Amino acid sequence: MIRILKKSDLAQCGKIYTKAFPIEHWGIDWTEERATEYLQDYFEQSKFVGYVYEENNEVLGCVFALCKISGSKEEIIINEMAVLPERQGQGIGTQLLNAVKDYSKNKGLAGVVLYTSEYAPAAAFYEKNEFMRSNGTICMYCELIGV
Ligand SMILES: CC(C)(COP(=O)(O)OP(=O)(O)OC[C@H]1O[C@@H](n2cnc3c(N)ncnc32)[C@H](O)[C@@H]1OP(=O)(O)O)[C@@H](O)C(=O)NCCC(=O)NCCS
Repeated sequence: MIRILKKSDLAQCGKIYTKAFPIEHWGIDWTEERATEYLQDYFEQSKFVGYVYEENNEVLGCVFALCKISGSKEEIIINEMAVLPERQGQGIGTQLLNAVKDYSKNKGLAGVVLYTSEYAPAAAFYEKNEFMRSNGTICMYCELIGV
């Protein structure tokens, strides 16, 4: 079942996140502790919206989102989403995404925004779930280590 994400879920979400984003695929060396701290930063924001998928008292997937003002409108941005690797491809991610969409519709928000890697399977997942690529948006980065 889908339910609202609570503070006590953060450690399990950190565990799922670390497994869902392995260094071999994503190039970032997450530890459970760092991932939990990272996700807690989102959780503590005043406009945070989050859900987990739970089965037999175990959290198997999570979504971290944030309402944000965009001119006269308000949108929701999905910052992070992860499902335990052994339970991926079974509809959990779709249910989590639908929870965010339902929340957004009920609040009269204008849309849902997210960023993902062009090379990750997640892009196909979002396209299946009615998301479209935003043309004209680029991600820029300034490397500071070693400069
Ligand atoms: C992306 C993610 C959240 C989707 O959750 P999920 O529970 O696996 O997704 P669902 O089962 O609801 O949807 C499955 C669909 O998504 C796509 N998909 C999801 N994971 C996939 C994977 N690893 N490889 C290929 N396609 C995948 C497929 O199109 C699939 O459709 P199909 O069942 O008809 O083949 C989950 O796979 C995940 O945690 N991935 C790793 C972390 C990640 O990429 N997070 C999002 C970054 S923005």
